[in-house]
Amino acid sequence: MPKTIIVSNRLPVKITEQDGEYELSPSEGGLATGLGSIYKQNNNLWVGWPGLEITDENDRKKVTRELQELSLVPVFLSQEEINQYYEGFSNSVLWPVFHYYASTYANYEQSNWDYYQRVNRIFMEVVLKVAEPGDTIWVHDYQLLLLPALIRKAQPEISIGFFLHIPFPSYEMFRLIPWRAQLLEGVLGSDLIGFHTYDDVRHFINAATRILPVNSSANIITADDRTIVAEAFPIGIDDKKYSSLPDEPEVQKNIKLIQANFGNTKLILSIDRLDYSKGIIQRLNAFEYLLTHYPEIKGKMTFYMIVVPSRDTVPQYAHLRQEIDKLVGNINSLHRTVEWTPIQYFYRSFPIEMLSALYSSAAVCLVSPMRDGMNLVSKEYVASRVYNDGVLILSEMAGASKELIDALIVNPNNTEEVAKTIVKAAYMPLQEQRTRMTQMRQIVSKFNISHWVKIFMDKLEEVKQLQRSMQ
Ligand code: UDP
Ligand code: G6P
Repeated sequence: MPKTIIVSNRLPVKITEQDGEYELSPSEGGLATGLGSIYKQNNNLWVGWPGLEITDENDRKKVTRELQELSLVPVFLSQEEINQYYEGFSNSVLWPVFHYYASTYANYEQSNWDYYQRVNRIFMEVVLKVAEPGDTIWVHDYQLLLLPALIRKAQPEISIGFFLHIPFPSYEMFRLIPWRAQLLEGVLGSDLIGFHTYDDVRHFINAATRILPVNSSANIITADDRTIVAEAFPIGIDDKKYSSLPDEPEVQKNIKLIQANFGNTKLILSIDRLDYSKGIIQRLNAFEYLLTHYPEIKGKMTFYMIVVPSRDTVPQYAHLRQEIDKLVGNINSLHRTVEWTPIQYFYRSFPIEMLSALYSSAAVCLVSPMRDGMNLVSKEYVASRVYNDGVLILSEMAGASKELIDALIVNPNNTEEVAKTIVKAAYMPLQEQRTRMTQMRQIVSKFNISHWVKIFMDKLEEVKQLQRSMQ
């Protein structure tokens, strides 16, 4: 039976080394958590990097066997490849440019680009080893933009879908990348190219038609006589998982613990990976503005802020961490009282039973990225609100704001607006909370992750038929 091979830089589980032993744990980030709940269907496989350098041949074999039981296929990378392809090109060129931080953070190193090409070819070799006739290849995200064309060259007829989990920037940003044409040619090796929003689709088609000799009509691109479709598929979550978690004893235990510690204040929750695109500094500034301009809220609200360690070997990320530490320290030392600390800050990841308890307990979830492809935390909060109460504050720069229009939508750069919106959210009448939350819950439930996979795969099949009819 034909299978789908998912390919992404990171596998849904990561390997860490503890006292010479390898341990598996869930990966963080929307791609891994989103697809993690559905990839095991049928005989599907997931190809990706296990998260650390493993050099010993016996260790590689052992890890390969362990992963095989989970239908995962590892792509082993050397430390130099990780430094230059992952930390370098992927996260010091593509991530900043695609999130509109080109002028502040992008670093165009030729050797990073050389490694990006080389590692994309390594991924191609692993994929071709496991691909069989009739299989569908589904490539994910900005780390593998060259992979579709590499696979296409080796297997001209194979079905290839590509999905970009981060925003596609406007042409004016994208054109800054020295290797822009090669990146577009790489993605155009796909049959179907998916984005979270229509703006991303528009930006991509605009960039492709201005940079390459290709034509487009609506969302259909013709390149070298091949027909390629670009379309918006906003990713969803496993809503049932999040709505049933609060019934589990472990989650109930955590809810009671949170209640015992913070029951007399309203919890304002934020959960992000460490990333400048998440607007963490701006959010802290807004909270400080709130404490200064609305001192009556002191002792009545607690900002519960989780920052999950991420890419901290990339200098900009390490620097951001220091900045956050400093700012949280300043705010807490200035505004705390004997019995109340304004910000409960955690720099670590949490098991899902704790995340669920926090989603259930928080009166407000504050999601204020400067740019975000989608943002799954906002959807997880909504899915967890089984009593239809609670308020979501959501940045208009997150892809999710196009769907969750009943959130309180803010511009994350507007400190005063964010501060005032926190007050509005914390004191919103229950009836209004319910009206808004009910609408959002319907959307999160209807457009869930299974729906997302289905419409993407159905469309890919449709594109293949369209191509055949045109031959
Ligand atoms: N997450 C996690 N462990 C944590 C905190 C968060 O696995 O300790 C998950 C969270 O539940 C969500 C994902 O990380 O599914 C973050 O996805 P999002 O789309 O919000 O942002 P991304 O990290 O992909 O930019
Ligand atoms: C975002 C990206 C993913 C990435 C995740 C975690 O969600 O779209 O491709 O896996 O962040 O980042 P990391 O660099 O740790 O894989």
